[in-house]
Amino acid sequence: LSPKYKLFKEQGLRPERQLPEALIIGVKKGGTRALLEFIRIHPDVRAAGSEVHFFDKNYHKGFQWYREHMPPTLEGQLTIEKTPSYFITKEAPRRVHMMNLSTKLLVVVRDPVTRAISDYTQAVSKKPDMKSFENLVFINGTVGSIVDTSWGPIKLGLYYKYLTRWLKFFPLSQLLFISGERLIQDPAIELKRVQDFLGLKKVVTEKHFYFNSTKGFPCLFKSEGHSAPHCLGKTKGRSHPYVDPLVLQRLRDFYRPFNMRFYQMTGINFGWP
Ligand code: A3P
Repeated sequence: LSPKYKLFKEQGLRPERQLPEALIIGVKKGGTRALLEFIRIHPDVRAAGSEVHFFDKNYHKGFQWYREHMPPTLEGQLTIEKTPSYFITKEAPRRVHMMNLSTKLLVVVRDPVTRAISDYTQAVSKKPDMKSFENLVFINGTVGSIVDTSWGPIKLGLYYKYLTRWLKFFPLSQLLFISGERLIQDPAIELKRVQDFLGLKKVVTEKHFYFNSTKGFPCLFKSEGHSAPHCLGKTKGRSHPYVDPLVLQRLRDFYRPFNMRFYQMTGINFGWP
């Protein structure tokens, strides 16, 4: 038991479950699991382990249900949850706002082209007979024709569109955008921004991470529930299929104006190619 917890018990207090004060709302395949696992190392952070899907699928179950799905916390500990589909759920901004208009919102974003391939890689792993990525990207499956914006993996990369909805309910200052690329290259830098934003002491630092060259990703020396060094699971950091470079170029050209718009809205240039 931590000293804080012991003191708490001695005072006859019991940890209680609280609705989250902060949410990782997206984006799918952006690096949301990595962010959650990294921030929950912090002793003042308690996280729901699995995706709760309250503001999309389980809203009808009510706030009591939601609270019961949160971990018990001591006074001063922050409750956080991550469900990446919140970012694209139409009703989510209004619902989150209704729960608590000061909810802090974290969004991990990643180059929409690699994000789409990552999304596709995950889908193929569940449904191996899926058509090729190149085939699904274009309307009629003809390489080089019009990009199919109705296909989930492509549509989800139009970040500006989804962000517009959130900004109807929350000021930009209540959202923190985390670069998925930087979360891989230099997790400590992004974690510093996250801790500042959440009003936490800087506890998670470069000392917590090491680069595992077999996995090709940063891993943790230790964290809650793990006393030994460990990486994220096998479904995080999968190898992607080869994609025709012409298709990649076409997609980069497609996303460029939408990315620019997103950079303007957030005031951050994410440097996607
Ligand atoms: P890939 O598996 O396509 O490489 P999410 O958790 O939102 O589903 O995001 C998954 C992505 O997180 C992975 O996509 C991977 O690139 C990225 N990621 C970021 N940091 C990671 C880490 N330390 N270990 C593994 N994957 C990480």
